Amino acid sequence: MGFATNAIHVGQEPDPATGAIVAPIYQTSTYVNEELGKNKGYDYARTNHPNRKALERTMAKLEGGHSAYVFTSGMAGIDAVFRLLRPGDHVVLSEAVYGGVFRLSTQLLVHFGLEFSFVDTSMTEAVRMAMRPNTKMLYIETPTNPTMNVTDIAAISKIAGERNITLAVDNTFLSPYLQRPIELGAHIVVHSMTKYLNGHSDATGGAVVLTRPEDAEKIYFIQRSAGSGLAPMDCFLVSRGIKTLAVRMLQHNANGITVARHLDAHPKVRKVFYPGLPSHPHHEVARKQQKGPGAMLSFDLGSVDAARRFLNHLQLCSLAESLGGVETLVSLPALMTHASMPKEVRERVGITEGLVRLSVGIEDVEDIIADLDQALLYV
Ligand SMILES: Cc1ncc(COP(=O)(O)O)c(C=O)c1O
Repeated sequence: MGFATNAIHVGQEPDPATGAIVAPIYQTSTYVNEELGKNKGYDYARTNHPNRKALERTMAKLEGGHSAYVFTSGMAGIDAVFRLLRPGDHVVLSEAVYGGVFRLSTQLLVHFGLEFSFVDTSMTEAVRMAMRPNTKMLYIETPTNPTMNVTDIAAISKIAGERNITLAVDNTFLSPYLQRPIELGAHIVVHSMTKYLNGHSDATGGAVVLTRPEDAEKIYFIQRSAGSGLAPMDCFLVSRGIKTLAVRMLQHNANGITVARHLDAHPKVRKVFYPGLPSHPHHEVARKQQKGPGAMLSFDLGSVDAARRFLNHLQLCSLAESLGGVETLVSLPALMTHASMPKEVRERVGITEGLVRLSVGIEDVEDIIADLDQALLYV
């Protein structure tokens, strides 16, 4: 079956008890035993429940994995992935990862004996040089948030293969509709389902998709031990969102390309960072491994004051954290999503104070452009 068909049907079979085309929300904390030691497959909602199981089946199918587990947020899922490691293990990460991943690793997990190195993973040689004898995992985000650097997943998976270590890829920015890291050699895919997968900005969620049964067993153990599995209502919402993922991503992609070209030609915009533009340094890698450039882009307005004037005059586009919803969202990473990153690190990786991030929604693209243009008049 094709992607759109799988997104609508896998894990979403009609309810066997009633025939309801949409499975009910199992809003219950516990399940009654038929007799001691015998139940219908569920005992307690922290451990598992039908809405979670359904969404996990969908996610495994869409990413082409062996199994998937869904969490209360993207960060909870990413935290579970790092817990596969042991004290003394070393991880090489993309240097411009989501600020929350930077905070989790450098301010929390280091206290449990894990070591982290941040490198520009779009330069394959830099990854090779960062390897240590105790390196156990490569963790990449591509495209990176918000500088839109693209990492060649197949090239990095070769390094992981040579060293027999795990390659984990954050696929949040593109969704499995536009990029399938497992087909390029990744062992683990993570998502903030809060973004494109849910798509409607009304729930948080995370997914970890695994290719190896031994990892799956450990991730499930972590999920049920830590109690970080996604609740029934949120699973229901994300499952509903995923049914329209294919059509939404087509429109996001088309709007993203149109807005990026428009901003690229705008005299007030110093530079646009978008892998869909031929001038982008990683345009060819993006073309090779992505089905489309997507709808995330950033652009430089030169200073925080210029950015502030622009942001404060937007009328249709919303100034908000997050991304991937149907509505266009705009943020200033240096003061918002990446505020937890030290200034010198932000500057080194290109997150300047005038860099504006845009998550292009699926409104009529003329309306998005008109709003950006009127706000740019104040820059
Ligand atoms: C690329 C990326 N990964 C992970 C996360 C974390 O996800 P969540 O906010 O659902 O915990 C985010 C959040 O913005 C993100 O942008």
